[in-house]
Amino acid sequence: MRECIIAPSVLSLDYTDTKKQLEELTKSKAKWLHFDVMDGHFVPNLTFGIDIMKAFKKATSLFMDVHLMVENPETVAKWFIASGADLITFHYEAMKDEQACRNLIAMLKEQGVKVGISIKPKTDCKVILPLIQDLDLVLVMSVEPGFGGQSFMEDQLEKVRLLREVIDTNHYTCQIQIDGGIQKETAKLAKEAGVDILVAGSYVFKNNIIEAVDSLL
Ligand code: DX5
Ligand code: ZN
Repeated sequence: MRECIIAPSVLSLDYTDTKKQLEELTKSKAKWLHFDVMDGHFVPNLTFGIDIMKAFKKATSLFMDVHLMVENPETVAKWFIASGADLITFHYEAMKDEQACRNLIAMLKEQGVKVGISIKPKTDCKVILPLIQDLDLVLVMSVEPGFGGQSFMEDQLEKVRLLREVIDTNHYTCQIQIDGGIQKETAKLAKEAGVDILVAGSYVFKNNIIEAVDSLL
């Protein structure tokens, strides 16, 4: 079975005890920190900005994987890049058209960060195919974006299998990330379908962090 990168989502951190949990995270086998940015427009929730991310960067050297669930990713991405983001993932559904996606991909690459596109459960995976060779990552949402603690949408694995086949057949370098409802059992299904990176929020932060991360590898 493929060994995956684990990217805990700090949306589900227990903010009454942040420092201790970041220490645990650093001791765990997690390689990335998944940072969910929500603007209250693109999704019906509001989370955190660059100051919180800067605080996390002071506390840990984990790869900063920024998931933008915002209406204006072209603008917001710049704020997070200037604050130390390593990867910026924007939503296909937030963009006017394919050319706008291409323009943003180019801008992000010029800024020296890795680039990902995320698709919501109702978005057909085929819209991403013309862009794959220019992407470092595709994020398949296995929940409707906006909140942690939702149930895994197993039908989204169909997209993972399609992406896996296209990437492997064409020898693209793009990685596949899945996000939403990931725990021990669903992680196994996602790995079998071909994901490279697992995002997990509530499963990691509602349990023993080190053990939870280990159980996803
Ligand atoms: C949802 C976020 C996810 C979420 C995952 O909009 O993009 O990253 O935090 O949380 P769990 O793992 O609890 O489903
Ligand atoms: Zn996310």
